[in-house]
Parts: sequence; structure tokens; C-alpha cells
Amino acid sequence: MTTLLVGAITYFAASSVAAPLSPLDVWDPTITSPVTGTVWIIGTEVNVTWSTDNIPPDGVSNGGHIYLAKEEDAIIPLSSNFDLVTANGSFIVTVPVVVPDSDYQIILFGDSGNIGPSFTIVAPSS
Ligand SMILES: *[C@@H]1O[C@H](CO)[C@@H](O)[C@H](O)[C@H]1NC(C)=O
Ligand SMILES: *[C@@H]1O[C@H](CO)[C@@H](O)[C@H](O)[C@H]1NC(C)=O
Repeated sequence: MTTLLVGAITYFAASSVAAPLSPLDVWDPTITSPVTGTVWIIGTEVNVTWSTDNIPPDGVSNGGHIYLAKEEDAIIPLSSNFDLVTANGSFIVTVPVVVPDSDYQIILFGDSGNIGPSFTIVAPSS
């Protein structure tokens, strides 16, 4: 049993060395929600989604992170570190308390950061 385990670890280490991450493995998923015209309400749960086309067979080197951005600057993390492959194209987040505006964006960090189109965040109606 121990021998098998050591063998597996050795194999894994060897295959990692044999196949270093090449630029082709950088996966840059397109954000499919929120998009232009999307309206998020502060305090509600929303579904951030992205295309899983061309996901590298080896997975993604880094964990995923979703940030709320304004003027292309990441301002508020909306997620903890999660596994991009397991998430399979969607992640539920809670809309944070921010100044309502129409120029918010989502940045999805995986191998690289990918920014989505501008969308609107509004206050809940009271
Ligand atoms: C989020 O959106 C994805 C893609 O449309 C869908 O598969 C998933 O079920 C949604 N998740 C929830 C909790 O609504
Ligand atoms: C990923 O989501 C797609 C639909 O969005 C679904 O068809 C597929 O079965 C899912 N894969 C896994 C591993 O859950």
C-alpha cells in the first residue's frame, strides 16, 4: 500500500516536471453573466457565469477568484479561492453594499484575469 502511494506521488511529480505549464495552457474564460444590461440588487445572491469552452485538460494552475471591479480596478473580492474546474462555469455570490452605479464589472481570476462588460448595481427597493 505504502509502495503504491509513493509510486503514485513519484509519478505525479515526474509528470508535472515533464509537462510544464505552457502559454497554451493559460485559460481565459469569457464571462457570460453579468453582461451589459444585467442589473444586480445589493444584498441578493447572483450567479456569476463564464464559458467553459477550451478548458485545459490538465486543469487550471491557480484557484479561481471573483472580484467586483469599477473602472477596471478590482475593488471587492466576491469569492474565496475556489476550484475553477469543479465550479464548471458558475459561482453564486452575494452583491455587496456599494454605491449604486452602472459601471461595475466582474474580474474572474484564474490563470490570468479576465474582465467582463459593465453592468449595473442598484439598491434594494424599500
Ligand atoms: C448558475 O448558472 C449556471 C449556468 O447557467 C447554471 O448551470 C447553474 O445551475 C446556476 N446556479 C444556480 C444556483 O442557479
Ligand atoms: C458542466 O455544466 C454543463 C452545463 O452548463 C453540464 O452539461 C455538464 O454536465 C457539467 N459538467 C460537470 C462535470 O458537472
